[in-house]
Amino acid sequence: MRVVDLDRDMSDVIPTGTTRDSEYLFARMTEETLAETRPGAGRRILDVASGVGQDAIALQEMGAHVVGAEPSRRMIGLAELQAAKTEGPLPSWVRCWSDGLPFEDDSFDAALCKGAMDHFDRPELAIAEMARVVKPGGRVVLAIANFDSFACRASRAWDRLGEQRLGRAVRRGRRGYDVPSDHFTRYELDLMREQAGKYIDVDVARGISLGWGLPVWTRTTGRLPGFVANAALRSLDALGRAVPRLSDVVVLAGPPRA
Ligand SMILES: C[S@@+](CC[C@H](N)C(=O)[O-])C[C@H]1O[C@@H](n2cnc3c(N)ncnc32)[C@H](O)[C@@H]1O
Repeated sequence: MRVVDLDRDMSDVIPTGTTRDSEYLFARMTEETLAETRPGAGRRILDVASGVGQDAIALQEMGAHVVGAEPSRRMIGLAELQAAKTEGPLPSWVRCWSDGLPFEDDSFDAALCKGAMDHFDRPELAIAEMARVVKPGGRVVLAIANFDSFACRASRAWDRLGEQRLGRAVRRGRRGYDVPSDHFTRYELDLMREQAGKYIDVDVARGISLGWGLPVWTRTTGRLPGFVANAALRSLDALGRAVPRLSDVVVLAGPPRA
């Protein structure tokens, strides 16, 4: 039996738009991930675990022919509603698991999987499948949250200090650095590289944003004037790019291995 929740909506997994640092992180993650697929007229692109379809729709609007692959009927329904509001050709949606993609070998120019690998019960098989359906020289693009980021490390250390040394009450509930209950894998850079490197010649491992989810940082960016907050977010983004091991999200990309 597969233990995957196919009825969820996105509100529990993506706090999009709730805080300034969240907005920044999700916008940058999307920007980098879509750019790595090298979208453009006539490109065939597969969005694996396409969710409510916003990335498939955006890529289609850039001229690509996009297929969204998603097992959840509910998510596909939401994607169809969203796509119906746009003009021009629409992505097509295929209901399937990531580890058994119902497509021919070498049938896409690029495949992306954004913010979903940690939900997969067989993530390596999913990468192998993405590499199989992408043409030689094409792009496989994976965007994954880093649970060993600077923010996770700092929050964990702060909580330990408070609870073990200063006698603060142990906090109940999930903390930002705890892996959510609907995740199968706790990703960090080395594991990402190890799994991806089996099927992809990884030529990009780019860190995105740094400090996301640290309560003090979320509060500070929320209170600062917009232009100051954005300058600070951009500076830490540049730092995350330089040190992907500590960044909030990592985008890995490359052609399928020969
Ligand atoms: C957090 S959402 C990400 C959706 C989208 N990529 C985005 O960036 O908004 C995770 C998605 O993974 C899908 N999913 C979970 N397990 C899966 C699996 N084994 N194969 C394919 N998709 C799966 C869920 O249905 C959900 O739509």
